[in-house]
Amino acid sequence: MTNTPEVVLASGGAPPRHDGRAAGPVAFKDAVAATGDVDAAPLEQYDAVVSAMPARVFHSLKMRQNQGYWVLDAWARGAVAMQRGGFVPRAAGDVLLASLPKSGTTWLKALAFATMARRASPPASPDHPLRRLNPHDCVPLLDRLFALGRGAVVDELPSPRLMCTHMALSLLPPTVADGTSGCKIIYICRDQKDALVSMWHFLKRNGLQDLSLQETYDSFCDGTCFGGPVWDHMLEYWKASNEDPARVLFLRYEQVLQDPAGTVRELARFVGQPFTGAEEDAGAVADIVELCSLESLRSQRANREGAQGVFVKFSHESYFRKGVAGDWMSHMSPEMGERLDAILRDRLDGSGLVL
Ligand code: A3P
Repeated sequence: MTNTPEVVLASGGAPPRHDGRAAGPVAFKDAVAATGDVDAAPLEQYDAVVSAMPARVFHSLKMRQNQGYWVLDAWARGAVAMQRGGFVPRAAGDVLLASLPKSGTTWLKALAFATMARRASPPASPDHPLRRLNPHDCVPLLDRLFALGRGAVVDELPSPRLMCTHMALSLLPPTVADGTSGCKIIYICRDQKDALVSMWHFLKRNGLQDLSLQETYDSFCDGTCFGGPVWDHMLEYWKASNEDPARVLFLRYEQVLQDPAGTVRELARFVGQPFTGAEEDAGAVADIVELCSLESLRSQRANREGAQGVFVKFSHESYFRKGVAGDWMSHMSPEMGERLDAILRDRLDGSGLVL
């Protein structure tokens, strides 16, 4: 075993190549450094379709409603490009993480990456990619890459690929949405009261200093927040998970908080790499939990410095705040909480999904 990820290139969306060992995904930034980046593709061909979408302004951010879901205007052309053939899933080896923002995406990226890449990069090793790279540099956000016209860069990644999206299932390419592509999906959802408080802090720390909690709250209640309506977003993945649990794993942030080791084992089983007895004995699960803990990630230089984004730059450090359940109570009245809960209960009624 080596601590240096071996880059096995799969050109142009080719089927996975195996080198005799399950190396797992290569950290995105390392893979791009090895292959070189792609030239940004023009997106003007999608201008007409985007300008026909309903628009609104949230604080200072222009939003577009794409097939019922609100996205940043700056992401809309890329979202259309990704859905209409830009993202080419592979028959085997693709794992897509999916979430609404502020639901624990960064944590899930770290946990899934560390779990899947553990043979090439043992979690206790001092030069593990997560000790020198931000989780968003290990697992690419497709939405951001496509918004920049750089979506084709994922065609160059070696298999297995680990990627992420905030898009609703119905906004993904048809074969991913209907399950015929073979792409596995891991979805994480969170109590929306905590997600909205997290979003409010996050946006205030990233340039929207005067954003009020009330404005953020209203956008969650009326379904116009980023990625919303949140209930439809969750329901699509929830239904797909019920129909085919081997294809879509549905996780909750609160459950990961309660039992991170159990979640790591569940992730490993889901991606077809269950922990062996020897790995369990060697403490691999605990090592992954520790590597991905809020304290550990927050202390890494890569997570204290730098920023990334399209139009709005999000600082790396702003992805790591309190990391608890129930922080909404420090900011919202019980009545505000009950009203949002009631809206969600109503929208999720009959689905079996209870937040
Ligand atoms: P809070 O703002 O409530 O603390 P996302 O990654 O989807 O943007 O979600 C960010 C939320 O996940 C933030 O919540 C953040 O603190 C929390 N988070 C990030 N890394 C975490 C970790 N390793 N463990 C627990 N929570 C984490």
